[in-house]
Amino acid sequence: MILITGATGNVGRHVLDLLVETGCAVRALTRDPQRVMWPAEVDIVAGDLADAASLGPALDGVDAVFLFAVPGSGPGFVTAARQAGVRKVVLLSSGAVDDDAEVQDGPIASYHAEIEQALRASELEWTFLRPDVFAANTLMWTGQTKSGDVVRGAYAEAAAAPVHEIDIAAVAVAALTQDGHAGRVYELTGPESLTHAEQAQIIGEVLGRPIRFADLPPESVRQAMSAHVPAPVLDGIFRVWSASVGRTAPTTTGVEDVTGRPARSYRQWVVDHAAAF
Ligand SMILES: NC(=O)c1ccc[n+]([C@@H]2O[C@H](COP(=O)([O-])OP(=O)(O)OC[C@H]3O[C@@H](n4cnc5c(N)ncnc54)[C@H](OP(=O)(O)O)[C@@H]3O)[C@@H](O)[C@H]2O)c1
Repeated sequence: MILITGATGNVGRHVLDLLVETGCAVRALTRDPQRVMWPAEVDIVAGDLADAASLGPALDGVDAVFLFAVPGSGPGFVTAARQAGVRKVVLLSSGAVDDDAEVQDGPIASYHAEIEQALRASELEWTFLRPDVFAANTLMWTGQTKSGDVVRGAYAEAAAAPVHEIDIAAVAVAALTQDGHAGRVYELTGPESLTHAEQAQIIGEVLGRPIRFADLPPESVRQAMSAHVPAPVLDGIFRVWSASVGRTAPTTTGVEDVTGRPARSYRQWVVDHAAAF
């Protein structure tokens, strides 16, 4: 039995679908089972990773876990997983984690690194997926593309190599179902470096109408985002954006190395999500 946490999320929902397609016995964890509709063959359990005591029923009889990183949850999860006899954990970590840093740069890197550390210190077999920027982050532009042809945001020239969530999920499924991934860290990116302005242009090309990115002062964008995003996380996002202006974002071969097929392009991601825009 494989347990998928974060199964309602961008990545976890594809991990679930791909595993169901392969015929694996799958259990999905959510804090709110009433809210979700999954295929009949999926065993659905309620549980909260922030409360390790709630994980007993979810972990019972489980061999491998796809783990969503909830801040502070590492030690409690490791104890519960060991008690339940879990063998293998594939962690959705973050490309922000820096193995060479004495102190991680900001809260996102810190809490992912803490969970990685709890797994490294355990007897569980672990694999860490460290994706860089998700292509799905640009879903924050859908309100603007639906109501007009301009995406207003900060740092038009900030570059990233956006990764498709299905590629992250495919790597996770390989690590969950095959041998040879224990102790491996996979840095995952999309295939090319694109600025915010180029990403907006590609959305327009896929939709068949010109879409342009209009630069706003970072402080005003930050102010608007602060209604939904905690200040320390916002600090990290804006630091990354400003530091990536004028740079080419690094790309990795992680997706292809593990799955045998190249990472999907940002254009393909937009095609797959065109209805949302
Ligand atoms: N966005 C990026 O560019 C980026 C880049 C690198 C890494 N990441 C990392 O990727 C992760 C986000 O993945 P995603 O986009 O697939 O997720 P998402 O769409 O944001 O969904 C969040 C998922 O986490 C589950 N969850 C949240 N708190 C939980 C808790 N206390 N107990 C159990 N489940 C909980 C939710 O499940 P329920 O609500 O159903 O309980 C939901 O399935 C984060 O760790 C993020 O740091 C993101």
